[in-house]
Amino acid sequence: MDRQKFFQDDRWTAGVIGLGYVGLPLLLTAIRRGLGGIGFDVSEERVAALNSGVSHIDDISDEDLEKALADGVEFTSDPSRLAAADAIFICVPSPLGRNRQPDLSFIEAAARTVEGVVRPGQLVSLESTSYPGTTEDYVLPAIERAGYSLDEDDVYLAFSPERVSPGDELKTGEIPKVVGGVTEVSGRIAETVYKRLVPTVHLVSSARAAEMTKLIENTYRAVNIGLINEMAQLAHELGIDVWEVVDAAATKPFGFQPFYPGPGVGGHCIPLDPQYLSWRAREANFSTRFIDTAEQVNSKMPGYNVTRISDLLNERGLPVFGTKVLGVGISYKANIADDRESASLEVLRDLAARGAEIAVLDRLVGDERIRSHGFEPVAPDDDLSGFALAAILTDHRDVDYEKIATEIPVVYDARGIYRRQGLQHSNVYAL
Ligand SMILES: NC(=O)c1ccc[n+]([C@@H]2O[C@H](COP(=O)([O-])OP(=O)(O)OC[C@H]3O[C@@H](n4cnc5c(N)ncnc54)[C@H](O)[C@@H]3O)[C@@H](O)[C@H]2O)c1
Repeated sequence: MDRQKFFQDDRWTAGVIGLGYVGLPLLLTAIRRGLGGIGFDVSEERVAALNSGVSHIDDISDEDLEKALADGVEFTSDPSRLAAADAIFICVPSPLGRNRQPDLSFIEAAARTVEGVVRPGQLVSLESTSYPGTTEDYVLPAIERAGYSLDEDDVYLAFSPERVSPGDELKTGEIPKVVGGVTEVSGRIAETVYKRLVPTVHLVSSARAAEMTKLIENTYRAVNIGLINEMAQLAHELGIDVWEVVDAAATKPFGFQPFYPGPGVGGHCIPLDPQYLSWRAREANFSTRFIDTAEQVNSKMPGYNVTRISDLLNERGLPVFGTKVLGVGISYKANIADDRESASLEVLRDLAARGAEIAVLDRLVGDERIRSHGFEPVAPDDDLSGFALAAILTDHRDVDYEKIATEIPVVYDARGIYRRQGLQHSNVYAL
């Protein structure tokens, strides 16, 4: 059978392993494109919630989910169902272990799932971020253990990094994809498959090149954020407003892309992904100095923000110990509820460890989760006048920043939101 023609013209079925921030939107994109869809997750709880129409992902509404269910999407915790899929996408986590080394156990487990279901006619594509060589080191052996050779047995293998940016306007299905095959034919098959899902597909010569593309994209962000975080500290020393400087530099129509300082880097991509590259580099006896420098700067930013907040209190004769501080925003980036690896939380934890009395305003993260971090939740309409200082740590859209600056005597703005919104208050101090 002409596999490329099949993926181009037929109504094939997408199988997704791992129904999180990456896997669920991908599966629903396939359904919206009129394809079949089977989503497998080891979490029975997650599968049950999805089957009852409850989404755990900010960018997927319950209505989106209900529509996909009506259109025939299947959520299952039975891996054998994936044998019915024509293209299997692996979207499992790739975190760091205790000593910040890559934790490949999820990819390894997903590869074992593939081993149990792979059959002629299938494309397998790894989407989890990992070091260059992962697809060949982990997924290829699983296919071979199942008794198949790539191409020869009508089985294909590729890597295509996910670029979803939670909370942003551009969604999975609208963002161009980079694709690289383990073999040349696999690359071409994967290109055809992804063309059914996204408008633009950029084919590279190998899975390794596709793996490295993702790591360069996120390393570029980490390094530039590190640069601007260092510049912010220098600008403060020199009595210059770094936000004004970045906005001015951004008027240059070429050669400059604005990055902004903040409480540090958070989430499960920017702080982690470069570590996959530097870990692999060490094996090749190569040192990644830019990655290491950026990490040093970025990882010290929560502490730097705590110092700036302590200085503001000190200037008013207030100690950190026993002073009431309102943390505004604790997710790792604006307009999402995800607080994993959040630098904003680190700032508040540090202040709390020094004895500050912390309360948190973050409607997206919600009261239950705020309490789980040991902080008191505050509602948007509450009287805020009892706080000595507000620290804006994550700049969610739906926050009344005017009210905060009116009711609380000192505001520390780690995100430059007052400047962006054109709000002028003499008691607001930007990072
Ligand atoms: N979230 C993002 O913004 C983003 C963006 C680009 C790339 N990525 C990358 O995509 C990958 C997935 O990230 P995510 O944010 O979607 O993770 P996530 O934690 O939101 O979801 C992962 C899902 O996989 C399931 N899972 C774990 N092991 C499994 C297994 N062996 N079989 C089946 N299901 C399994 C978990 O139960 C969970 O539902 C990671 O490599 C990440 O680095 C994430």
